[in-house]
Amino acid sequence: MDGLKRQAAARALAEVRDGMKLGLGTGSTAKHFVDLLGEKVRSGMKVVGVPTSEATRAQAEACGIALTTLDEIDHLDLTVDGTDEVDPALNLIKGGGGALLREKIVAAASDRMIVIADDSKWVDALGRFPLPIEVIPFGLAATRAEIAEAFAEAGVAGQTVLRTAKDGHVFVTDGGHWIIDAHLGRIADAPRLAWLLSVIPGVVEHGLFIDFAGTVVLAGAQGIRVVERR
Ligand code: A5P
Repeated sequence: MDGLKRQAAARALAEVRDGMKLGLGTGSTAKHFVDLLGEKVRSGMKVVGVPTSEATRAQAEACGIALTTLDEIDHLDLTVDGTDEVDPALNLIKGGGGALLREKIVAAASDRMIVIADDSKWVDALGRFPLPIEVIPFGLAATRAEIAEAFAEAGVAGQTVLRTAKDGHVFVTDGGHWIIDAHLGRIADAPRLAWLLSVIPGVVEHGLFIDFAGTVVLAGAQGIRVVERR
């Protein structure tokens, strides 16, 4: 599986040009991209990156990739990131690693987003992977009630679980927020659910990435498949 992730990352790297401003994704697949980009930088390629998490920042720095922020610049040429699921409309569920908020801000600031994944991430309909919803700790019970109403309106149902870290304490995102993982099974209308969640005050962001990915690179046993958004 790790070899497939690296193959997808290598294919995305072929789209990177000298001088580009890049969004650098988070997760085990994006890690390969940062690693391979570091090799290019060490052999003379000039790029500047904006990391989507503190973990990616640390890795990119160790790889010698020049970094900036979306305070210094307001737009990026390309973001390359992994995903937890991708459907045939190239909508995504992201946030399994907890970096969804910065990932979405960075992707939104980019002219283009390439998603890299092994082909196990391809699904007919999103929702098998628990949907991460990043919430403000204040008023959690009230926010959970509003989330339940949004689910009912969108015609989905399932258990919601406050994410905990390996040490058993509540998982805290890079932005200081918490995550609720929603086990929905199948989301028939992901754009509608995305909209309903986005208007809840206590929801900072959710892991549905609707109309973000322009290209998806899927690596499988049969080779690489590149899917473009129509
Ligand atoms: C991080 O918050 C996530 O959105 C990751 O990009 C996503 O979970 C993919 O991670 P892997 O490449 O490790 O599967």
